[in-house]
Amino acid sequence: MSADTPQIINPEMADVPLHEPSKIHLKDYKRLSFDVETVNLDIQLFDEHATVESTLVMNRQTEGDLVLYGEDVELLTIELDGKVLATERYSINNGKLTITDAPDSLSLHIKVRIHPQTNTALEGLYIAGTGSETMFVTQCEPEGFRKITYYPDRPDVLAVFTTRLEADKRYPTLLANGNLIEQGEVVGAPDRHYAIWEDPTNKPSYLFACVVANLDVLTDHFTTSEGREVTLELYAKSDDIDKCHVGMQALKDSMLWDEVNYGRAYDLDRYMIVAVSQFNMGAMENKGLNIFNTACVLSSPETTTDARSFNVKAVIAHEYFHNWTGNRITCRDWFQLCLKEGFTVYRDQSFSADQQSSAVQRIDDVAMLRAHQFAEDAGPLAHPVRPESFVEINNFYTTTIYEKGAEIVRMIANMLGADNFRQGTDEYFRRYDGQAVTVEDFLSALSITDSKVEDFIDWYRQPGTPVLSGHQDYDSETQTLTITLSQQTRHVAGFDAPKPLPIPVATALFDQDSGEIISERMLLLEQAAQTFVFDNVGSNPVVSLLRDFSAPVQLNYNYQDTDLAFLLTHETNGFNRWQVTQMLVNRILLPNSDAKSEPDIYLQALVATLPKLAVDDPMLAARLLDIPSPQELASATHKDYDPEVIKQERENLYKQVALAL
Ligand code: SER
Ligand code: ZN
Repeated sequence: MSADTPQIINPEMADVPLHEPSKIHLKDYKRLSFDVETVNLDIQLFDEHATVESTLVMNRQTEGDLVLYGEDVELLTIELDGKVLATERYSINNGKLTITDAPDSLSLHIKVRIHPQTNTALEGLYIAGTGSETMFVTQCEPEGFRKITYYPDRPDVLAVFTTRLEADKRYPTLLANGNLIEQGEVVGAPDRHYAIWEDPTNKPSYLFACVVANLDVLTDHFTTSEGREVTLELYAKSDDIDKCHVGMQALKDSMLWDEVNYGRAYDLDRYMIVAVSQFNMGAMENKGLNIFNTACVLSSPETTTDARSFNVKAVIAHEYFHNWTGNRITCRDWFQLCLKEGFTVYRDQSFSADQQSSAVQRIDDVAMLRAHQFAEDAGPLAHPVRPESFVEINNFYTTTIYEKGAEIVRMIANMLGADNFRQGTDEYFRRYDGQAVTVEDFLSALSITDSKVEDFIDWYRQPGTPVLSGHQDYDSETQTLTITLSQQTRHVAGFDAPKPLPIPVATALFDQDSGEIISERMLLLEQAAQTFVFDNVGSNPVVSLLRDFSAPVQLNYNYQDTDLAFLLTHETNGFNRWQVTQMLVNRILLPNSDAKSEPDIYLQALVATLPKLAVDDPMLAARLLDIPSPQELASATHKDYDPEVIKQERENLYKQVALAL
C-alpha cells in the first residue's frame, strides 16, 4: 500500500468509491506557470492507431512546475531541449504530466500513440462513419485536446499552431486550421500523402481541429470589407453536396451581417465547414474549420422544412460569429463559458431576426427559453449563468448558460440603446482582441457609456427566474399614472439569498380611445419594489409591459380581458401582441376563477386585426392564431385537468376562429 492510498476503515464501505470527484472552483483560478508560444503537430494516421508528435516552445510566466494534461494517450518519448527527459525528471498522475525543474524557456518534443478507432467518446480525435465513408474528425471543446496529446489544455493558453497530417491516400481530404502551406507524397511510402497547415492566429487548444476523409466540396468566395478574398468551402459526402447551398448562402449572409452590425471582418484566407454525421454537439467553431453535425448544415428544398432550414442558417451564423466572440476573444477559464456563448447566441438571434419576421424570431426564442431554461431554473439543476464551481464542465452546456446568457446581453443592449451598445462592443473588441478574458472584462468594456452595466454581474451569479409583479394607479386630478413594480426570486438551495436584480422593463402607455402610444420608456427596476410616475397622462391608459420580452422574468400584471384584446389590436410590438393573445386564449380555455372568459372579445379582436396584419407581417399574423398545446395548458392550470375536455375546447375554439374569419 503506497502512502497516498486511503485506508479502508469500515469494511462495509469497501464498495463506495474512495475518491470524491474533485470540484474545481472559480475562486481558485491561477495562470499556468508556462505559456506556449508555438506548437508543431505531426499527426500520422494508420489503420489501427495514430501517432502524434508535438514540439512546444514554452516560456515561464510564474513560479511553479510545468504541467501538461493528457487522457488516454500513451507516451512514447519526451525530450526537453533536444535531450531525452530522464524518468525521474517528470511524473504522470491523474492525467497530469509534471516537470519539476524546467528552465524558463524551453522546447519540448513529445511523441504519443492514440487510438481514434476505439475512441467512442466523440471527444479528441475519433472515427465517424464506416467502410468507404470512414473519416477522422476532432472535437476538442472543452477538454478534448488532451486526448490527442499532452498539452496545457486550457483556454487561457494561446499559441500559434502548425499541423502536419499524414494518412493513406484512401483519404484524399486532409484539413486543419488556418492556411494550407504544403502538400505532397510521403517519400518511401507511395500509398501515403500529407498536408501542412499553418494557423497564424493565437488560439487555445479547444479550437484545434483536423479532418481526414474522402469528401466532396462546394466552393464559393467572399470579399471582406477589408478587401480580403476569402475562399469558402463546405465539405460533405458527395451525395450531400447538393444540400449545402442553403448553408453556403447563410455563411455569406453572416459574414456581411457581422461587418455591417459589429464592424467585424473575417481574418483568414479560407473558411471551411465540414458536415459529419457522428457529432456530439450541433456544431463547433474551430478556427477556420467548423465541424457540423449534418442535421445542422444540410438542407434541401424537397425534404427540409422551413423551420429546419431556418435552424441551419442560425447555426451557420452562430459558428461564424464565434470567430470574434469566442475565438479572437476567448474565455479565461470554463467558468466563463457564457461569455462566448451568451453573446454569440444573442448575435445569432439578432441575425435571424433580420432574416425573417423579427417578431416571430423573438416569439420562438422566448418560447424556447420558457420551455427549457425556465424549467431548468425552477428545478434541481438550477445554476448561475456563470457557475462558481463544477466537477465536469461538459455538464454545463445548458440552456441557462446559452439562452439565459443571451438574454443578459440583450437586456444590456436594450438598456444602452443601439449606439451605446455598439460603442461598448467596439471597445470590447479593441481592448481584448487576442486575449482570454472574463465576464467582468466584458461588462467593463460595455459600461463605457453607462456604469449601470456593471450591476448586471448579479444576473451571472444568481440562479432562479425572477417573478416581476406590477399594478397601475391613475390619478385624474394630477393627470399622473403610477406603475408599481416589484421582483422576487426563489432562493435556490446552496446559493446565497437572492438579491434584487436590475430588470429593464420596456413599457408603453396606450390611449384607450385612439389606440395610439402616448409614452414609451425603458423602466429600470433595481430594487425589490419601485414606483415609476408618468406625468401629463390625460386618461387612464392601457399599459403594455415587458415589450419584446425585455427581461427573462415571469410577469404578473392585473390585465383585464378588455386590456388584452385592446393590445392584440393596437400593440405595435409583435412579441407583446402574440403574448396578450396567448394570455387571452389561456383564460378562455383555462378559467382559474369562476368567471370564465368568453371567446367573443378575442374573436372580435382577431377579426379587427388579422386582415391588415396578414399583409404587413404574414408570419406574425399566422402566429396570432396559435392556441397553446394541451401540454402547455396542462402546466398552466392549478385546477383539475381533463384532457378530453381540453381537447374538445381547443377544437371548438379553432372552429370559432375559422368561422369568425
Ligand atoms: N461551442 C459549440 C457551440 O456553441 C458547442 O456547442 O457552437
Ligand atoms: Zn456557441
